[in-house]
Amino acid sequence: MSREITIASLANGDVERAIEIMSQGADPTIFPYLIHSCFGYAEYVKSILRLPVECRDTFFFGAYDQDQLLGFSEWRRLGGVFLLSELFIAADARSGGIGKQLFEHGRELAIKHNAFVIELDVFMMNHEAREWYQRLGFIERHQTSWILEGAAHRAKAVIPQGYMVKNFCTAAACQKVYGFSNLEIESGSTKYSIGRLGDRYFRITTMENLYDKQLLSVLRHLDPDRRIVGSIKNLVCCMPDNFHFITKSIRMHHPL
Ligand SMILES: CC(C)(COP(=O)(O)OP(=O)(O)OC[C@H]1O[C@@H](n2cnc3c(N)ncnc32)[C@H](O)[C@@H]1OP(=O)(O)O)[C@@H](O)C(=O)NCCC(=O)NCCS
Repeated sequence: MSREITIASLANGDVERAIEIMSQGADPTIFPYLIHSCFGYAEYVKSILRLPVECRDTFFFGAYDQDQLLGFSEWRRLGGVFLLSELFIAADARSGGIGKQLFEHGRELAIKHNAFVIELDVFMMNHEAREWYQRLGFIERHQTSWILEGAAHRAKAVIPQGYMVKNFCTAAACQKVYGFSNLEIESGSTKYSIGRLGDRYFRITTMENLYDKQLLSVLRHLDPDRRIVGSIKNLVCCMPDNFHFITKSIRMHHPL
């Protein structure tokens, strides 16, 4: 029997169910290194949903069979790029056209916002989703390597001069409520944006930052027990000692 599916804005009361669908569908090898696994991610989504839709650049849609949530999508508007951040369908509702309906709904919104391309990241080992996106017309672009520090460096180092943590208090508040945050650090004209995931990881996204011994020294003083997760676009050279490779994600795009 085919289902009558309605696509609508994700209801506040369905956020926990959406996260349950996501955590059941996500790859456990990578999930701990994403903000989505942090304890306050549901509260973070609810905070976004409290903003009037006209005032946001992030949109959540649910696929509903009457009032039962069967899947959801998250879209971010980044100038002319619409980023499909999440698309998850409950395991027992897959291959019934719901993913495609959620995609089409977001595509129409992207066109309405004059976007010129839809982009997304898919993990390399997720062959089914990669194939599925290719069938929708997505083309693979660059790759991002995900690497993990073997052990936290507890050795004391001298705190380098001139590295300012600009948003420590607001980041601490964010960390307390959502379980993740971003530290904005400046040294002269250089600006760093360093993620904190739960109480276990710092997240770094450029190779330059990974090799910046002074920056690493600051991070180690801030929290000596955190290990560094790197997600580095087009990693061509070798990674620092003490790091190992986790996986790759692939940026795909779909011109509109
Ligand atoms: C990938 C995913 C979102 C697709 O949603 P879905 O509802 O299962 O897909 P649909 O039923 O809408 O698929 C529509 C079309 O794709 C086809 N299709 C379904 N699964 C497919 C697969 N694994 N490979 C290729 N084609 C597939 C369907 O036959 C259908 O084709 P048609 O329109 O020609 O009849 C869903 O399977 C899912 O949630 N997977 C786990 C989470 C995940 O990996 N998400 C992506 C993270 S980046």
